[in-house]
This record gives sequence, structure tokens and C-alpha cells, in this order.
Amino acid sequence: MERASECGAGSDARIESWQQFIRRAAPVGWPALCPELRLHLGGASVPLWEAVEQLLGRQVPPPYWAWAWPSGQLLARHLLDHPEWVRGRRVLDFGAGSGLVALAAARGGAAAVTAGEIDPLGREAVRLNAALNGLDVEVTGRDLIGSDEGWDVVVAGDVCYEQPLAQRVGAWLQQLADRGATVLLADQARPHSLSEGLEPLLRQCVPTSRDLEGVEARWVTVARLTGLPRRPPAVPVIPGNDPQHEHAGMPDSRFVDTRSVRV
Ligand SMILES: C[S@@+](CC[C@H](N)C(=O)[O-])C[C@H]1O[C@@H](n2cnc3c(N)ncnc32)[C@H](O)[C@@H]1O
Repeated sequence: MERASECGAGSDARIESWQQFIRRAAPVGWPALCPELRLHLGGASVPLWEAVEQLLGRQVPPPYWAWAWPSGQLLARHLLDHPEWVRGRRVLDFGAGSGLVALAAARGGAAAVTAGEIDPLGREAVRLNAALNGLDVEVTGRDLIGSDEGWDVVVAGDVCYEQPLAQRVGAWLQQLADRGATVLLADQARPHSLSEGLEPLLRQCVPTSRDLEGVEARWVTVARLTGLPRRPPAVPVIPGNDPQHEHAGMPDSRFVDTRSVRV
């Protein structure tokens, strides 16, 4: 566990004060799409963000952990409805925020669940949310982009909200999918959303708030990132493909890429 080392000396008192802050500023509620899970949920964004900056004594990114983002909600819903994606498997929830997707994976019977979150306050929120639901989730603040700890399944909700992050995450997740990990992404059509190699599984309009996103609802897509082989060879080399044979070089029906039809 990184917990003792991440804050240095006096970390217990600091973590206690952070947890008190989360309990006070983000009362327990239920995400609209996943009422079976409880979360600490924040209210109006700007006052909460200012309160976090006051608590930490410096400027920080928004407290993403305080809301159940439409993408995370639909991805969590998908795992709750189809636990076979995670049951008995080692799961990473990358960019966990509140940890909602990690909680859904744990509820679905995953063998182990890790929530990766760079925001230290967010990591405390995930711990509190896991405890609220009686679920076991390991939490890490290590920069996991580029690493591979042998996860069977990697899930990520709304992690392409900034261009540099989207680029790094996209390349890394593709590598994981290529080596055989199941990679599930949920995305609400941000300008830098990944667009290639995705096999959509589910699309739905999910309620959000004007305060957070300027609209009442967002369309969200849950998709699987396809790994290698991405497409069949143009001219398949198969035993018996004798250049003298009358069908030599003709596309073989066994190699037709049906994924493009399904998408
Ligand atoms: C928009 S929030 C989505 C949270 C959650 N997945 C959901 O859908 O509700 C994106 C989250 O990714 C986290 N994040 C960004 N870069 C990260 C990185 N390199 N490693 C881990 N988490 C990261 C942010 O701190 C934030 O909590």
C-alpha cells in the first residue's frame, strides 16, 4: 500500500482531515443509473472546488471525484448488468474519480480491483466509497500510464477530457488491448475522445447537470477497444494457397472482417 508514504510525516492526521472534508462536503447519495451503489456526491461545482483549494492551500484541478460522470455511470451500469465481463478477473479502473466503476467491478465479482487516481483527495473518496458499499478496492496514485501489471480487464470512464492525456492514454490502452487485455472505455464525445479501434457495446443518454457540463444530459458510448489483429492481411497467406491454383489471391471468406459490419 502506498498510503503511508504518499503524504509523508503527519499523513494520518491529514488523511483524517481530508476524509472529514469529503464526508461534510459531499453527502452520501445515489448515482441516477446505479442506485444500488452509494457514493459521496458533491453539489455545485465552483463552491466545492474553492473549498478544496482552501483545504489544500493551493490551486488544484477540479474535484472530479465528487461527481458520478455520465461515462462512469453508464460503464458501471454495464458491469452491474453484465458481471461476466469482470467476474473472477483482475480489474484496473483507470482515472477512477469517485471509484464508481471500480465499485461496480467489485460488486460484479472481480477477483481483485485496483482504482488508479492521481488526485490524492480523490483516492480518499474512493476509499470512503468502497467502505460505504462494503467492497474491497485497492487504491493507487502511481502513474500507471505505460505500465502493465497483468490486469485482465482495464476500464476507464471519461479519461479523454484533455488532449495530452487522451494521446498518452490512447496509446497505452491500445498496447494493453493488443496483448490481450479486455479494455472497456466509456466516453461522452469529448473533442479528444478516441475514435479508432472501438467496438461500441452500448449507447445511452445519461442525465448530468447544467452546472457541471452546461447540458441536462449527455450521450455516452461504452465500447471495447479492439486489440491485434486489427484487420486481416489483404492477401491471406494460407497453406495450399498455391500461386498456380485457379483461386490464388482471391479473398477467402474466412478472413472477412465482420467487425466492420457489427460496428
Ligand atoms: C472526468 S473524471 C472521470 C472519473 C470517473 N472515471 C467517472 O467516469 O466518473 C477523470 C479522472 O481521471 C483522473 N486522472 C487524470 N489523469 C490521470 C492519470 N494519469 N492517472 C490516474 N488518474 C488520472 C482525474 O483525476 C479524474 O478523477
